[in-house]
Parts: sequence; structure tokens; C-alpha cells
Amino acid sequence: MKKIILLLLTVAFLAACGSKKEEKVNIGLTQIVQHPSLDQIRKGILDTLESNGYVDGENIEIDFQNAQGEMSNAQIIANSFVDGKKDLIIAITTPSAQAALNATNKIPIIYSAVTDPAAAGLEGDNIAGISDMTPIKQQFELLKKLMPKAEIVGMVYNSSEQNSEIQVKKAMEIAGDMWLELKVVSVTNVNEVPTALDSILDDVDVLYTHIDNLIASTYPVVVQRANKLGVPIIGGVEDYVTQGALATEGIDQYKIGVQTGEMVVRYLKGEKISDMGMELAKETSLLINKSVAEKLDILIPEELMERAVIVNK
Ligand code: TRP
Repeated sequence: MKKIILLLLTVAFLAACGSKKEEKVNIGLTQIVQHPSLDQIRKGILDTLESNGYVDGENIEIDFQNAQGEMSNAQIIANSFVDGKKDLIIAITTPSAQAALNATNKIPIIYSAVTDPAAAGLEGDNIAGISDMTPIKQQFELLKKLMPKAEIVGMVYNSSEQNSEIQVKKAMEIAGDMWLELKVVSVTNVNEVPTALDSILDDVDVLYTHIDNLIASTYPVVVQRANKLGVPIIGGVEDYVTQGALATEGIDQYKIGVQTGEMVVRYLKGEKISDMGMELAKETSLLINKSVAEKLDILIPEELMERAVIVNK
């Protein structure tokens, strides 16, 4: 009799495991806007989930929502994930992560590509993720190597993005240390970008485009305006260079996604969010746009040429 009960219990246990396996984990994936860098980050996350056996539509269900650049949409999306009782929220970008944490302190949140999580208030027991703090100092050093005579640097930034504001603040400190003058102008939507650029481009030697989601989402406009006046652009990220900036020493975007995906996998395998915290993505590479350098008559020092990835666009 005892044996039979044990057998029955075992069968019941196995059946329970079996049915649990078929239940999909519901994941809400949110990002503030669409631009090439975020596309790469998202791909890195999804590829990593898949290579670890988590396939969308099979054992996980990913509900992907893009806020089209609107903070209010980001909040609506985050609230809808909470109402829909998602098991996990993955938030790419600072504004989307802030909206998610604002919506819940219970559902686990893993953020990706947040410039400065602590300064953005992204801390707590239900939140962890990957920071992609911009190597601004390295990027200014690159600027100096490519344009030793540059004195005035222009920056346009979205004052509604905390990630952007913090970089402007850091850039000011670093510029001061390097005897560079910064001319900074703020915008709050894409329509203001052309006018903002035109208000500074005449007065600057170079434009520095840091990691700002609004600027990234309208980057062709930035390149076109700067090109017209022959102002070189130092970028914050590789995708800016493939779109026409002169150079960057930037963080590999796809790898930010991979690192985020690995954190999600650890969570899905049972690790607690409160034991994870923040991880930094730091792998950078030097990218130089040779055809832009030639057009602007900028000489690339041998030392940079040797270790740079060269693009011709
Ligand atoms: N770090 C940005 C944030 O905190 C998001 C981001 C990642 C980004 N890569 C980018 C923005 C490239 C502009 C360009 O929101």
C-alpha cells in the first residue's frame, strides 16, 4: 500500500512539473523609441534568451511595446504590464525603466542600457540591470586627437531624459578639465532639433552627440545639418558613426543586450532580482568614418588608424 501511495505521489509530482513547464513566462518588453542602437540592444537580448532555450511563443511570451518617444506613452505601457500581470518587465532605456519602477515595486524589472541607474532612482528590491554609462572622457580625448585645434564643442540634448542630462553635467566637468568650451542647447521634442542645431553650429568647432534617445531617433537630421556647415561630429555610439559622424570610442550595443539577456536567463533559472543589482557594460571600440574624415580634411593619426574599425559611409 505504501508503495502504491508513493508511486501515485510521484506520478502526481511529475504531472505537476510537466504542466508547469507548459505555462509560458509572460514578459513585458518596453523601450522609449525606435533607433538603430536600441534595435541592436533588443536583438542582443532576444538572441541570448533564445540561445539559452527561451523562445518567444514557446516557453516565454514577449509583449513588445515602443513608446514612440513619448514619456506619457512609456507610463501607459508600464501600467498596462502591471494590469496584465506580467511575470517580468524588461525595460530598455532610462525613461522606460523609470516608468516601469513608477508602476510597480512588486513585479521584477530588469533594465537595459540605462546610463546612470542610481542617479535615475532605479534602485530597489524588484529592480536590477545593465548600465551603459558613456565613456565621455575617452570620447573627448578622441575629439582632441582628431581635432587638436578645437576649442568650442556643441551639444544638443533632450532635457526630459535623465540619462541625457547627467551626461551633459559630466561633459561640462570633463570639458573644463580639458580646456574645451561647451555650448549646450536643450530640446524637448524632435521638431526643435533643426532650430537648436542651427543656433549653435555656426559657433562651434565640433559637435558632440552623446547618448540621447531623442537625438538618436532623428540622427539623419543632425548629420545633414552639421554636414551642410562642415562641422565634424564626435559620436557617443557606433551607430552614429555608420550614419555619418566622424568617430567614436563607444560601447558595443549588441553586447549590452547580451549582458541583459544573461541577467534575464539567471532570473528565469531562479536567481533573485534583489541579489543581482547593477552591472556595467564597458566594452568599447574605436570606430572612424574614413570618407567623412576625407571630406572634412581631417588627418587620422597613425596610432588611431592602427586600432580603429574603419567605415566608409
Ligand atoms: N543609455 C540610454 C538611456 O539611458 C539608452 C541608449 C542606449 C541610447 N544606447 C543608445 C540612446 C544610443 C541613444 C543612442 O536611456
